[in-house]
Amino acid sequence: MNKLQKANEYIQQNKNNVNNRPIYHFSPEIGWMNDPNGFTFYQGKYHLFYQYYPYDIVWSDMHWGHAVTENFIDWEYLPVAMANDKAYDANGCFSGSAIEKDGKLYVMYTGHVDPNLGFDKVESEIAERQCIASSEDGITFEKHKLNPVIGEKQLPEGYLICDFRDPKVIEVNGVYYCVLSVRNAQRRGEIIMFKSLDLVQWTYHSSIFQSTFEENKLLECPDLFKVDEKDVLLFSEMPCDPEYTKDVPNTTAYLIGKMDFERGKFTPDDKGLLDYGQTFYAPQSTEGKDGERLLIGWMHRWNQTNPPKEYGFNGMMSLPRKLNVINERLVQQPFIDTQNYFSPSVIGEIVQLTEGEEMHIEGKTTGFLEVVVPKTSGEFTIKLNKEGEKSTNIKVDVENNVLLLSSDYGDEGNIKVEDLSTNSDENIKLSLYIDLHSIELFINSGEKVVSFTAYDRDKGKDIMLVGGEKAELKRIVYGGR
Ligand code: FRU
Repeated sequence: MNKLQKANEYIQQNKNNVNNRPIYHFSPEIGWMNDPNGFTFYQGKYHLFYQYYPYDIVWSDMHWGHAVTENFIDWEYLPVAMANDKAYDANGCFSGSAIEKDGKLYVMYTGHVDPNLGFDKVESEIAERQCIASSEDGITFEKHKLNPVIGEKQLPEGYLICDFRDPKVIEVNGVYYCVLSVRNAQRRGEIIMFKSLDLVQWTYHSSIFQSTFEENKLLECPDLFKVDEKDVLLFSEMPCDPEYTKDVPNTTAYLIGKMDFERGKFTPDDKGLLDYGQTFYAPQSTEGKDGERLLIGWMHRWNQTNPPKEYGFNGMMSLPRKLNVINERLVQQPFIDTQNYFSPSVIGEIVQLTEGEEMHIEGKTTGFLEVVVPKTSGEFTIKLNKEGEKSTNIKVDVENNVLLLSSDYGDEGNIKVEDLSTNSDENIKLSLYIDLHSIELFINSGEKVVSFTAYDRDKGKDIMLVGGEKAELKRIVYGGR
């Protein structure tokens, strides 16, 4: 039995031991999952591949898991698409992307080779090279005989092959470009671009973005696309070396600007954070069925507390987010049918709460809650997963224009979002998607987003609003599941 068959057989034999999976967020059938890979609309369905290790709930030999969906709520698992079964990807088929060419689905990924299996990191022995595989049906993949297609020969001097990964391939006017994460000789992160006419022969084109020496960052999983006539570059940030772990959190950033493909130059004008929480990482975008730009991310972070082992799975994807550039900022809106799925209804209008006054909303663990607050309101708190003294609290201080998320669950500490009311609306809108292990908060229809995850077993169910000074809520909408 080969490695791929072994993985698929293991999944079939053990998947029924998995429990407590989220109800409307994608999670693996069994085992560990990290980054979304190869996110694409192909032959009438959205395909999502992902970094996958079926045998345990911790990261190890990376396979590419695979699932399809039409509505991002109902998912069908497909067989694992790739295992690390070649010399050039012996220690992992790392992250990458997909593109359709002549009716076939091509994936481009990183072949990771590390003879020490990550235990004793000997950089000089680690190599990351880019590979391709193709499929006629989007299910069975064949790795290309000329793999790796980008390696030491194509990587210019001044870059280190030990950290050279995550190809995101796009086509512009008949030319293929791919952006990649790389560590430069100063040990810092850069995003570089390669060019090809056939996906097989690649040449180095340019460096499109460099983090500064002082930032101490590597930039993983770059993504480059056009939306609303603007070019957007995304990347995920991590410490460039272990000694910077405390100062450099795993965050995901965006730059809006102009990409000159001919010259290989990206000129940024605006920048921002994709998520103010700590559990949104390595997102990847694709063009949706109707030409919209969709993004999905790993709703987790490196070194997060694992779920209880008996759950049998680890890792979730965020809701897909539809992207637009509005007023020089990237706006992200959940791309599921909220009305149909949650059937939300108005449960309160013009509600005034005095200090400490409680409004009980629901006792369901999963659902959708929307609170619209006039900018003239005082302070209030949304309490989620409340049980006795424990809860996750979203404190909204309208006057001071700040929101604070804190929780008695999980390990994320406090999340602060400043500047809530940047638009000219007279209200602030908070839309919350609550699932078994996560909360995603979209502020003002996605001007800012906060993801929070916690796998604690003892989370409560209750949702309530608690008044602070002069709290006045215009509308409260709720739909449980
Ligand atoms: C990001 C990442 C990628 C890499 C993959 C390995 O989370 O570190 O850079 O390709 O995970 O699983």
